[in-house]
Amino acid sequence: MYTVPKLTDFSARALDEAKEELLAAMAVEAGDATDGPALEEFRNRWLGRKFGLVAQVNELWLKAAPGSAKREAGQRVNEIKQRAEELAEKHVKAIAKSILNARLRAETLDISLPGIERPLGVRHPVLRTLDELISVFVKMGYSIAEGPEVESDYYNFEALNFPPNHPARDTQDTLFIANQEQRAQRDRLLLRTHTSPVQIRTMEKSAPPVRVICPGKVHRNDAPDATHSPVFHQLEGLCVDTNITFGDLKGTLDHAMKSLFGSAVKTSFRPSFFPFTEPSVEVSISCPFCGGKGCRPCKQSGWIELLGAGMVDPNVFGFVGYDPKKLSGFAFGMGVERLAMMTYNVDDIQQFFYGDMRFLEQFA
Ligand code: DAH
Repeated sequence: MYTVPKLTDFSARALDEAKEELLAAMAVEAGDATDGPALEEFRNRWLGRKFGLVAQVNELWLKAAPGSAKREAGQRVNEIKQRAEELAEKHVKAIAKSILNARLRAETLDISLPGIERPLGVRHPVLRTLDELISVFVKMGYSIAEGPEVESDYYNFEALNFPPNHPARDTQDTLFIANQEQRAQRDRLLLRTHTSPVQIRTMEKSAPPVRVICPGKVHRNDAPDATHSPVFHQLEGLCVDTNITFGDLKGTLDHAMKSLFGSAVKTSFRPSFFPFTEPSVEVSISCPFCGGKGCRPCKQSGWIELLGAGMVDPNVFGFVGYDPKKLSGFAFGMGVERLAMMTYNVDDIQQFFYGDMRFLEQFA
């Protein structure tokens, strides 16, 4: 390892020789310092203020020089000092650069790799059908109303003219919320079995005339099979004004069915019973698959039953404080999945709920 020699000869030639030897040693040591700590060591060894080699050069070559050689010695010492500082500085930069290069190499991104694919979603076929239905009625001036899925007995039954214990309740396969026995019957909670309670909620809130549709999810205690699901969707409609007649009901539903299935489709109205309408009807359309000749979807009858409807029962007006002597109205309710099954030719209602991508992708 290099040490600074004492000089006896202070001639310019001897000083130059000693300087070259020192600079050569310094260059080798600088070259060996390839990382931060080694460079720090180099700096201390050469540039350390008190005991560094450059300080020693100052002592041994300049201070020890006789007066006549001071100028020559001073020049060399300054050169050495400058050179040592330059070397150290150059090295700091070189080391920083090699650290950066190593990092860049480690963090290199291969931008030619394919990215993560995020497929675009589409509307579920049931909601698509519901949207189409809604738009047919919105064009006729209906607005949209919604209500809760957890309903009270009052809205789901009583105010719709289902008296307590009336057998018509049995048709609704109701799922009741547990532990409600201590409440009055009308306050007991259940999962709404139809969207008809939204009729009541709407009339309670707003004065006539009323034209609303009420889309939403409903629940029944039904075992799932190809045509039943414990959860499904309905679209309810309600129109109340002065002088609303059964003709308005027929015209409205006939127009709606033609909008959905084409102008060749015919509607048929057969007497039925619902507690909240009087008279009540079951509405069928001529089979859009065979045009009425008879095929498998229509069970050879030429007709497909699609919805329930009727003129609002005066008792219902009584529950919401509407005057049945001045007002009349009609209501209707239909199952959305049933319509979607017809529209998209789906023969098992469960397909809508499995979440099987092979089924759903067909609607993309
Ligand atoms: N709420 C009935 C059901 O789910 C369907 C229905 C029938 C709704 C006649 C109506 C209506 O508004 O007038 O069984």
